This record gives sequence, C-alpha cells and structure tokens, in this order.
Amino acid sequence: MEKQQGATPDRMQDIISLCKRRGFIFPNSEIYGGLNAVFDYGPLGVEFKNNVKRAWWEAMTRQRDDVVGLDGGILMARRIWQASGHEEVFTDPMVDCTNCKKRFRADHVIEDFGDLSTCPNCGLKGTLTEPRQFNLMFKTYMGPVEEDAAMVYLRPETAQSIYVNFQNVQQSMRKRLPFGIAQIGKAFRNEISPGNFTYRTREFEQMEMQYFIPPEQEQQWFDYWRGQRWQWYLDLGMTESHIMWHTHDAKELAHYARQAVDVYYEFPFGFKEIEGVHDRTDWDLRRHTEYSGKDLSYFDDQEKLRYIPFIIETSVGADRSALAFLCDAYHEEEVEGEKRVVLRLHKRLAPVKVAVMPLSKKEPLVELAHNVHDSIRSVGMTQYDETGGAIGRRYRRQDEIGTPYCVTVDFQSLEDNQVTIRDRDSMAQRRVAIPELRGILAKELA
Ligand code: GAP
Repeated sequence: MEKQQGATPDRMQDIISLCKRRGFIFPNSEIYGGLNAVFDYGPLGVEFKNNVKRAWWEAMTRQRDDVVGLDGGILMARRIWQASGHEEVFTDPMVDCTNCKKRFRADHVIEDFGDLSTCPNCGLKGTLTEPRQFNLMFKTYMGPVEEDAAMVYLRPETAQSIYVNFQNVQQSMRKRLPFGIAQIGKAFRNEISPGNFTYRTREFEQMEMQYFIPPEQEQQWFDYWRGQRWQWYLDLGMTESHIMWHTHDAKELAHYARQAVDVYYEFPFGFKEIEGVHDRTDWDLRRHTEYSGKDLSYFDDQEKLRYIPFIIETSVGADRSALAFLCDAYHEEEVEGEKRVVLRLHKRLAPVKVAVMPLSKKEPLVELAHNVHDSIRSVGMTQYDETGGAIGRRYRRQDEIGTPYCVTVDFQSLEDNQVTIRDRDSMAQRRVAIPELRGILAKELA
C-alpha cells in the first residue's frame, strides 16, 4: 500500500518537477493555493494522456470485432448505486488524531506501522480514534432544491453505465455473447488519504472494459484478459521487471468479485496497483435486474438457453497508468560530462513526435524551416522550435519531453536540400533529403 502523503522519494520529486516545468501536469487551482488531490494536464500532458487513452481504445476496441465503445453520463440515477452496492459498502475505514487533527485511512496506518497505537503524523500514542466507515462517493443535487430526493452521486467508477446499457448495446449492435463494452471517462472518489502525485486523486479517469460471457466460460476469459492486459503494457514499452501480478486474497476482494488480480507497477514509492482484472460473476446484471425490475438476461438463440451473463472486467486508471509510463520512461544519464534527462517514452505515447529547429533565427533559414515543418505536420504532433541557443541545449529540452526525433535545418540545407534527423535514444544523426523526410518519419513513427 502507498505511503501517506509527503513521503515521496527524490526520484518522484524529479518527475513532479519535470511535469510542472515542461507543461505536463500542474496543481489544480494553484493561484488560489491549490485544491488537494486534483491535477490539471498542461499542453504536453493532455497530448500524452490522450495518447495513453488512444492506445488503450485502439487495443481494446478498434483492433477487435468483439468489443464496442460507450460514453455514459457522469451523473446517473441514485438507485444504480444502491443496486451496485456502492451506497452501502463503498467505504474506507477512517481514523482521526485527537492531538494533531490529521485524518488517515486506518488500513494504510496498519499496513505501514503495524497497528493504530501511534499517530503517523505527530507520533503521540493513543490519540487515534476508533475507525469509522466513510463513504467515498461525492454527492450533488439535481435541480434547484437541495433536498434528499434530489441527491445524486458523481460516479465513482465508469463500469455501472456499461451494465445499465448492456441491453441497449447488445440489441442495437446485434451482439452475440461473448462480447465486451469499453468506456473511458471521469470518475470521482472522496479519498481519505490521496497522494503520491496523480497516483491517488479525487478526480481521475478510468479506462474500463466489461466482457459479457456465458457462465461456464468464466475461468477461460478471466485468464485470457489477464494475458491481454499484461501484453498491452509490454507493447507500449513498459519494462517487464517493473510490473507484477498481485492476487487478491479473500479479505481484499471487492463485494462484487469472485476472483481478482491487479497489475502492480514499481513506482519510486514502491510496487502499487495500476490495473485490476475482476471476475464479477453475474453480480451486476442480477442486481440491476432486481433493483430496476427489468429483466437483463440474455437469450442464446443457438443454444436455446436464457441466462444472466457473467462479466470479466478490466479496469485501469488513465492517470495512474500514464504516471507509470512516465516513471518508467524517466532516465538520467551522463553525456559528455553533463547530465541528460531523457523520457524514453514509446513513440506512440510521446506527446511531441518531431521537433523542427532552424540552426539560426535568420532568413532564409527560417522560411525553409517553416516549410519543412509544414511538410511533416501530418506525421503526428510536431513542434517548431525557434528558441535559439545552442542546438545541444535544444536537443536536451526535447529529450526531457520524450520527443523521438529532432529535425535540424542548417545553412547547408539551403544548398543541398537536406536536413539532419537526430534520434532521441541513440542520439545518432543522419542527413536525409527534404522531399523524403515526411515518408521516413511516417515510417519510423508507424
Ligand atoms: N470498476 C472497478 C473499479 O473501479 P478499482 O480497483 O476501484 O476498480 C480501478 O479501480 C482502477 O482505477 C485502479 O486500478 C486505478 O488505476 C484507478 N483508480 C482507482 N482509484 C483511483 C484514484 N483515487 N486515483 C487515481 N486512479 C484511481
């Protein structure tokens, strides 16, 4: 389990500082002192996180015939959260220190310190209250009157809108089981002890897929989706020794799960969960059938069988997996006696694919560089860097944001119609003809 806020080691501080300095992630409401556990993605962060989400969407829907997409509302009928069990049991145990007034998650304190005898903040013995259950769902009101009947929750997971749309999707898309529904969207949890930067926040995005299956295929599909999800990280360049499986024991299993495994990533603050694969049995559709009064069973017209489908869920945080990819990509190394910080992001995840830089700010070099830039825009997100300064420093700035290729336009380019491509990882440089540049980059980035 993660440490309480404030216990982030140095490497994490380096990454947080890079994120702020280079426009990836900013504290929310910063000029007003900040809003705890909410973050804003800057110009590079939004590109990067969109690339993570795109890679997930591509693998989970576009490359498959058996999974379709959905984009459900954040607000949903309160009854949904009663049916799902969230209103009753989506709670964490909370303790308060009567001396320093700090609040902690009781299970985190026990995990880190063995028991609840001592306050982790002020160190006094016997000052923590008895644990109390705290519901994590945010509440708001629909309409002008703030009364109980108008109360709705901000969804704490995206999964439920998939379950309540199961029949809409199955019938409109004429899907036969097994098939899945995928969704990317915001979720909200009033976490008692958020922390470790974007790892545990109160507003975040989930990428969830629910796979509907005949009950007897439960184990087969659980094992299949485990394999698929592990491979996704490897395909995007994650270091395999930095991820591991964690199997939930009976105490950890959520109320809806018969079996569950998590992918853990080795963050600078330790191995922590980034994704869960859950065997949810027929819990969800059975409960929604019961609470809504609508029959959500499925009729298999080939087998002539009616049953409530089982569900295998894969659920990953977009912010949390993005943070894992960032941590995995962050490298410091020494080049010619100087420190080089480089984000070795997979090319598909890098926010900027190519930076074009004229060697000088003078004409006619600048005009040629602009033309070169325009000619390659279609290969992906590009940047035109005319900031001046030594070319080595400009390469370093691109290394720090993970740009796979820099294209340098120099005075010789005016004569031989060639430019230099510089590779982020090897730092190797090669001259290529300008008319061939777009094709070469498109191939490298494919
Ligand atoms: N529908 C199942 C579900 O929501 P979960 O284990 O509670 O399962 C799934 O959450 C994933 O959502 C986690 O593995 C994590 O990546 C992400 N997540 C959950 N709470 C989060 C938080 N407070 N901040 C950031 N990401 C979070």
